[in-house]
Amino acid sequence: MLATQKQYVQWFENETLRHARWLSESNHLPPARIVLVDDKTTADEAYRLACEGTSLLWHGDFHNARQLLQALKRRIERTNERSEQRKIKKAANKTVAESSETPKDIPNLFHQQRQIQAQRSRILSRLLLELDTDYVSHLRRAPDVSTACTAAFGQLDKAADESCVLSFRDLQGALGAAQWREKGVSIESLGVSIYPHYGVFAPTRHEYVQLLLDAPLPTVNNVAYDIGTGTGLLAIILAQRGVKQVIATDLNPRALDCASENFTRLELANVKLQQADLYPTDAPLANLIVCNPPWLPAKPSSPLEYAVYDANSTMLRGFLQGAKQHLAEQGEIWLILSDLAEHLQLRTREELLDWFANAGLAVKYRLDTKPKHGRSQDETDPLFAARSAEVTSLWCLQRA
Ligand SMILES: C[S@@+](CC[C@H](N)C(=O)[O-])C[C@H]1O[C@@H](n2cnc3c(N)ncnc32)[C@H](O)[C@@H]1O
Repeated sequence: MLATQKQYVQWFENETLRHARWLSESNHLPPARIVLVDDKTTADEAYRLACEGTSLLWHGDFHNARQLLQALKRRIERTNERSEQRKIKKAANKTVAESSETPKDIPNLFHQQRQIQAQRSRILSRLLLELDTDYVSHLRRAPDVSTACTAAFGQLDKAADESCVLSFRDLQGALGAAQWREKGVSIESLGVSIYPHYGVFAPTRHEYVQLLLDAPLPTVNNVAYDIGTGTGLLAIILAQRGVKQVIATDLNPRALDCASENFTRLELANVKLQQADLYPTDAPLANLIVCNPPWLPAKPSSPLEYAVYDANSTMLRGFLQGAKQHLAEQGEIWLILSDLAEHLQLRTREELLDWFANAGLAVKYRLDTKPKHGRSQDETDPLFAARSAEVTSLWCLQRA
């Protein structure tokens, strides 16, 4: 889905000024300086140019560009290892393990790590390629990428014979998403596969599904809402557990398309979708409201991060504040929330409990699970100590 406000990029090729539509899912601005590079360009030269802020439009063999990207990644890692990364890791592990020392550094470490990742993303995103108006690459040995790009970015303006320039990284993201969309994510505990779309939160870490299967349903379960449905996973669980009518919302149109496709595949006729900021409009009161909001209170750096980062906990607090108004008298709220933000000292448990109380909600019970995903077990991660302590909970809330 392309932004309505088009952006263009221009460069010289054989002394001719060329221009093309600029696509950047990471919201990077169109590059001001572009040079043409090919198989003769060395990785060191490409790295130097990219670090200086020059973008590199690839004209060589498609597969060699992938190798160049790998070579750039290795150079960034080496540089990071030599400098910040090592310092951060040392300080982070010390901070949590010996928490009496400098606990106040943890949020800084988290923000520094995000900055390092953003800088890495900027450098790697400087390797570009051009695709024609059908998303065909005319590079040597280029695979067919048009189906994946159309699914991820939408159609280009064929009438305007518009070609586009994008980063190899964004192209790889689109190709990876196309694979997930085709093969699906198997949710063993539910016995179904979910098919995520590009730009939609993929439930690859889905320990919390078991929490939703274990929690006892409220005795009356005619109507449930799934707020921020993403692929539709939680709505599917509720429908499979026998809730008569499920209304799922999301702000992201890609999520709505994706959830709709998943509901159709599973022939779930009793799930309705609405594009909404939090709660559905014109809907009956809910006996159950579920929500798995973005779990880290920090600013998303691109639309692809909206499912993970929630600046100032705006969605979480809005969800809690609005809940009572949409809840039937004996209704329940099931809030799925990781406590990683607490371990990173971006939010305290007291704050969370205050938000419940201020919204007129009381905790009925809580179910916990430990995430098993790779990052929580990666000891080389600078924030390993915080990540390995993470617990994801289902908070069952009711009217106070
Ligand atoms: C962590 S993902 C959870 C997706 C899905 N419920 C799941 O558990 O797999 C959070 C979802 O909330 C959506 N979202 C964020 N802010 C929202 C808002 N104000 N209103 C509705 N949906 C929102 C995001 O687009 C994303 O799909």
